Amino acid sequence: FKITVYSVREVEIPLFEKLNKDNFELNLVSEHLSIKNVAKAEGSDAVLVSGGDDTGKDVLEKIASYGIKLVYTRSVGVDRYDFAAANELGIKVANVPNYSPRSVAELAFILGMTLFRHVAPATYNTHMGDFRILPEYFANEIHDATVGIIGAGNIGTAEAKLYKALGAKTLAFQRHPDSSNDAVEFVDMDTLLKESDIVSIHVPYIPGKTDNLVGAPELAKMKSSAILVNTARGPVVDNEAVAQAVRDFKIGGYGTDVLLDEQHVMDKQFDTLDDVPNQIDKDLMKNYPNVIVTPHMGFFTVPAVTDMISTSFENFKSTIKTGKPIYPVER
Ligand code: COI
Repeated sequence: FKITVYSVREVEIPLFEKLNKDNFELNLVSEHLSIKNVAKAEGSDAVLVSGGDDTGKDVLEKIASYGIKLVYTRSVGVDRYDFAAANELGIKVANVPNYSPRSVAELAFILGMTLFRHVAPATYNTHMGDFRILPEYFANEIHDATVGIIGAGNIGTAEAKLYKALGAKTLAFQRHPDSSNDAVEFVDMDTLLKESDIVSIHVPYIPGKTDNLVGAPELAKMKSSAILVNTARGPVVDNEAVAQAVRDFKIGGYGTDVLLDEQHVMDKQFDTLDDVPNQIDKDLMKNYPNVIVTPHMGFFTVPAVTDMISTSFENFKSTIKTGKPIYPVER
């Protein structure tokens, strides 16, 4: 059973080898899947992608033309799939919904705390030679703060637990609250926005459904000192409105691991920020140090990547045995 795997980073290669207990034949490709390199999958039984790969209509059509019907991802997010095309072509999709949730939760927590304690502007200024303790560094302490989690699934709950362990009050908004979740107190969106000192987003991006979940009206309800954190997907916030709110001091800062137009920046190296192709992303990033951006590295921990690979193998193993992956995604 041959699997062509895209977006394989160097650090993942030994893990793919070690975790391949079922002796799948692996064709490891370092590039992100695109129409340019889809031919590398020809002759395989299945394709395994990640969050940065193009699984749009054109690419899926090519894959289907090679007789491949399994295009699984080792990411949680499936927003890059054209499900209409996949369904039409009879392509099955599966994901890894629960790899070490603390990987993303810890990064969200760090982005939040970095801005909450004004560490980003303080380090920036200090390294520029300004050692004054500026009034804008005057902070609260997290045990006296309220943290609002939008989307209390695996990752949101893991982040809430980190804050709760430090004594913070943890609120959450969820369309269908899970009453057994005792890491958070479920409230409506307005209450969460009004009361939280840190708001952290953990909802999936479903194109046409979860776009701009936090936009100008939501930002206007937040405290002027509140920090917004996004480790989910760029389009779930209105990036222009966020940049404006930071510039106008309507919120205290924005920490994000994700951008609006990630496909044109992921894993790329530009000479300067001016070369970032998307104007909205560029404008947002220019607000450093009140906006801090990491390069979509929330998943990039040893436990998470290990889980992503081993659960993907389990998905294939189950498909071979029963005809179904453990974690099918149907839309
Ligand atoms: C996901 O798992 O959905 C992610 O965002 C990480 C992925 C890009 C590797």
